[in-house]
Amino acid sequence: MRPSLLSFIVFLCLGFFLVGEGCNPSDQSALLKFKNSFPNPDQILLSWDPSISDCRNWGGIECNETTNRVISLEVSNQLNGTIPSAVADLPYLQTLRLRKNPYLVGEIPPAIGKLVSLVSLELSWNNISGPVPQFLANLKNLWFLNLSFNKLSGTIPASLSFLPQILEIDLSRNQLTGPIPDSFGHFPGNAPSLILSHNKLSGQIPTSLSNMDFSRVVISRNEFSGDALMFFNASKTTEIIDISRNNFAFNFSRAGFMHETLVTLDISHNKIWGSIPSSITDAILLQNLNVSYNRLCGKIPSDWNLKYRSQPFDNSSYVHNPCLCGSPLPPCKP
Ligand SMILES: *[C@@H]1O[C@H](CO)[C@@H](O)[C@H](O)[C@H]1NC(C)=O
Ligand SMILES: *[C@@H]1O[C@H](CO)[C@@H](O)[C@H](O)[C@H]1NC(C)=O
Ligand SMILES: *[C@@H]1O[C@H](CO)[C@@H](O)[C@H](O)[C@H]1NC(C)=O
Ligand SMILES: *[C@@H]1O[C@H](CO)[C@@H](O)[C@H](O)[C@H]1NC(C)=O
Ligand SMILES: *[C@@H]1O[C@H](CO)[C@@H](O)[C@H](O)[C@H]1NC(C)=O
Ligand SMILES: *[C@@H]1O[C@H](CO)[C@@H](O)[C@H](O)[C@H]1NC(C)=O
Ligand SMILES: *[C@@H]1O[C@H](CO)[C@@H](O)[C@H](O)[C@H]1NC(C)=O
Ligand SMILES: *[C@@H]1O[C@H](CO)[C@@H](O)[C@H](O)[C@H]1NC(C)=O
Repeated sequence: MRPSLLSFIVFLCLGFFLVGEGCNPSDQSALLKFKNSFPNPDQILLSWDPSISDCRNWGGIECNETTNRVISLEVSNQLNGTIPSAVADLPYLQTLRLRKNPYLVGEIPPAIGKLVSLVSLELSWNNISGPVPQFLANLKNLWFLNLSFNKLSGTIPASLSFLPQILEIDLSRNQLTGPIPDSFGHFPGNAPSLILSHNKLSGQIPTSLSNMDFSRVVISRNEFSGDALMFFNASKTTEIIDISRNNFAFNFSRAGFMHETLVTLDISHNKIWGSIPSSITDAILLQNLNVSYNRLCGKIPSDWNLKYRSQPFDNSSYVHNPCLCGSPLPPCKP
């Protein structure tokens, strides 16, 4: 073979290598390190085998087709152990979803705070414990955060409100304590959905939250007390308000309702008094209403014009209030 042809072939091969025809080698070795960090690597992630294919074809992996960098990692139903720090060696990761791994335990490692390209972080339905870490605030591109159904404890870090892009925060079904941070009245971008139900959160809702137009407020089954009127402002565009099963105690007569957005309203099982404002019937998109098990009084508004319900709400929406009256409960005494 002539030397020039040889160097041409070498050049071609080198060219292919540099253009990166396969999975990025550094990402592939990070993934293998991730897999091998578990105590039983022979039993999990079976398609992650470099002798069969490169990481673009491995289960749960998505690569950018131009750069061949790993941008998404999703694993369910198999991880046994703690979240490996090797995950930090995937610098282009945008989506990390480790869901429904009942044997995934331990804390959220600081390595997660290095994944600055993340837009979506879901570690739900595992058995992760320890705190909701402060360092999540480093993930400036994050818009979706779901840590629900774990054993997280401690307080909600105020720094989560520094996330400029965040649209969903779901910390429900953990063992979190303490209040909603005051800083949650100061998200820099649009207010996110706030899903904090089934924890042990307590205290008053900070008045700063009246600044925010949350699309969903689901804080049921906690130990909150005091006032929640900041959520009931007719100028907002909230779709779901569920404050049920807390210790809220305030006069509901002054509540306002989002007439063009509110779909679900549940204030049941609190100590809320006053009457149901007649302006509630302006909320024409309402599909679910529950004010039962409170201390409400007075006539139930009757002038409904519900767009997505053929029937008005039945008596189970209203029961166990000492003096609510009128249809569908017994008539008011004259
Ligand atoms: C893949 O990477 C290229 C170059 O960085 C970028 O322009 C493109 O938007 C990326 N595609 C996806 C799906 O992320
Ligand atoms: C998880 O790994 C441990 C070894 O660390 C092993 O004893 C246990 O059986 C494994 N459980 C499952 C569900 O794989
Ligand atoms: C957490 O582990 C317990 C057993 O210790 C198990 O019963 C439970 O289902 C696990 N939780 C989740 C969300 O998988
Ligand atoms: C968070 O994850 C749980 C469990 O996987 C799911 O039920 C819930 O809908 C998710 N939350 C959001 C806001 O998508
Ligand atoms: C109601 O919400 C609007 C828009 O978010 C806000 O400007 C206004 O101050 C709020 N009113 C009260 C009483 O909080
Ligand atoms: C609740 O507020 C309304 C309107 O401000 C007022 O008329 C009413 O007396 C209050 N009810 C109670 C029980 O304090
Ligand atoms: C609710 O309505 C059902 C029938 O629709 C009736 O049997 C029941 O007694 C009512 N309960 C109350 C508390 O009014
Ligand atoms: C309202 O909540 C009560 C108490 O949790 C429940 O028994 C009832 O079925 C609910 N009604 C509706 C319409 O959601």
